[in-house]
Amino acid sequence: MDYLSIKEILSQGQVGKEYEVKGWIRSFRNNQFVALSDGSTLQTFQLVLNPDKFDETSFKNLSIATSVSASGKLAESLGQGQKFELIVDKIVVLGHANSDEVQKTILQPKRHSLDFLREQAHLRFRTQLFGAVFRVRHHLAMAIHDFFDSRGFFYLHAPIITASDAEGAGEMFQVTSLDLEHLPQKDGRIDYEQDFFAKKASLSVSGQLQAELAAMGLGKVYTFGPTFRAENSNTSRHLAEFWMIEPEAAFMDLAGDMDLAEAMLKHCLSYALEKCADDIAFLDERLKQEESQKPMIERSKLNLIEKLKFCIEQPYQRLTYREAIDILMQSTPQKKGKFKYPVRGFGTDLQSEHERYLVETHFERPVILTDYPREIKAFYMRLNDDQETVAAMDILFPGIGEIVGGSQREERLEVLVEKMKSFDISEEEMSWYLDSRRFGTVPHAGFGLGFERLVMFVTGLTNIRDVIPFARTPKNCHF
Ligand code: 4AD
Ligand code: MG
Repeated sequence: MDYLSIKEILSQGQVGKEYEVKGWIRSFRNNQFVALSDGSTLQTFQLVLNPDKFDETSFKNLSIATSVSASGKLAESLGQGQKFELIVDKIVVLGHANSDEVQKTILQPKRHSLDFLREQAHLRFRTQLFGAVFRVRHHLAMAIHDFFDSRGFFYLHAPIITASDAEGAGEMFQVTSLDLEHLPQKDGRIDYEQDFFAKKASLSVSGQLQAELAAMGLGKVYTFGPTFRAENSNTSRHLAEFWMIEPEAAFMDLAGDMDLAEAMLKHCLSYALEKCADDIAFLDERLKQEESQKPMIERSKLNLIEKLKFCIEQPYQRLTYREAIDILMQSTPQKKGKFKYPVRGFGTDLQSEHERYLVETHFERPVILTDYPREIKAFYMRLNDDQETVAAMDILFPGIGEIVGGSQREERLEVLVEKMKSFDISEEEMSWYLDSRRFGTVPHAGFGLGFERLVMFVTGLTNIRDVIPFARTPKNCHF
């Protein structure tokens, strides 16, 4: 007898043939119908217990959340919404779940709040919602690899432990094997010579600098790995541990960088719509229900699927930071004093409310902002001829704000060294990075995509904690 997943049975099962299925019980009704799910697909599979083979005692064991293995003949289903069902002759309980205990958990099949589901993140993979979210997350990861592989980019594993703060924001988690209760001292300071790496080390905030070095030999590379930021921002869009994709290409300029990022995003959205059609339809339906609870005026114009299609079909609006500042300063919320952080002109660091205004109200489409003031961007970005701005680009998405941040890199040694000085970055510490500018430097560019922000956009979930299996945020490292 064949053992197939529910997804396989539904797609390739043959009526009249015997099958064995394994999974968890979602519901059991009329002492006859079991809805089984195994995670392979959104759909549950109906088991119909053959009344001749079962009695009251066996029913008692078939409570919600129990895991079972069932075998029987595949039949065409008379019920609505399903193609097949299994007429079961034999069912074996693999792991029992006590009904009273189940009542207290999110496994109890009813609508739970996302907060409650998050508290039981260890169980939420069993729910339809999180099954859908994590299947979409998987397919988006495949989409990323598919996109870069097809364009000749090599997958690079950047180190997770590093001694450099690529973004210069100082938001790093230190890594040490020193005994924190008894720190070795030298000249009144901690003696890092005695630490594991004989220097101060941290978890990486970005693999970019290493990706740049690799691109200086391999031409085109991308990283896809975890990154860590100890920024104390407890928002719905920040994690302390998140996954980032960082492509880097030699001989690419800012325009090429924008084209690449836009094409990548569009590829990921199309890929998800194709590979996760039923999960996305389910997420869309869920959002529609949520929207219908809102007052008319707050409802979004597009539903989830329309929004994804819109961001595939429409070109993204490209404009400079300066142009964006002008728009924001003339904008209605600004005049009415509605921005929490007022826009004071060139040099203002844009907040997510400003980014979202540009995307959602002004342009009504994804926006790519370029040429930011040098002071508010990282040291490695290429200085423009105006000496005031750098060749940076951020992609802003509806409901998300910044989803991609990238730039053309400063490839001119003297300019880079001068910039490092102004950012107070040690030339000596970074001499390995500067070597890439010493030995055959070339124009190059890249960007970083926040993977969870992409998953948020595709699933329509609005809290980043709900699109990563186990979220790490300030004061929270549960599970
Ligand atoms: O804009 P960021 O800081 O850029 C970099 O790290 C560059 N080294 C990228 C590059 O050019 N290679 O981060 C890139 C993206 C952001 O646009 C955002 O989507 C995401 O990473 N991101 C976060 N996602 C979740 N939680 C956080 N705390 C994040 N910080 C950044
Ligand atoms: Mg950024």
